[in-house]
Amino acid sequence: MVMQWAEAMGVPDSERNRWLRAVWLHDAMRDASSEELNEWASSSPGPVELKHGPASAARAKAEGEVDRGVLDAVRYHSLGLAEWDMVGRVLYCADYLEPGREAQADERADMARRFPRDSGGVLREVARARVARLVASGWPLPEPTVRFWNSLFARAS
Ligand SMILES: [Fe+2]
Repeated sequence: MVMQWAEAMGVPDSERNRWLRAVWLHDAMRDASSEELNEWASSSPGPVELKHGPASAARAKAEGEVDRGVLDAVRYHSLGLAEWDMVGRVLYCADYLEPGREAQADERADMARRFPRDSGGVLREVARARVARLVASGWPLPEPTVRFWNSLFARAS
């Protein structure tokens, strides 16, 4: 999916490679045990589901990834980050829109098709869905998520 987006949006190879690295790295620790997650993401508070991003980023860094945008994309892919460059935005959307999830498959496929023409609009739709899910979980909203949300929906007043 990210390959198709990169092609449709005409991004240079170097940028496409950043997107692909983020996608490749982001779930490296998704199936890790909670001991491993705590070891790699000891300073990240919150439920264990929110630790695999920071843990995957720590591991990517240990294995030589130096691109700050790629590391921030991986680290915050479950939360969002106001300061993200395009890599973070692409990963946040791709992670949610990736085929294979059953719920709202048609809607997701449509959003994935629209991403190259309207990445900002699709990013806001994905944020609405993902933040709604976080709210429904009953956990307090992490601070990076609040700032990310406000950066997407800030209105000139
Ligand atoms: Fe993930």
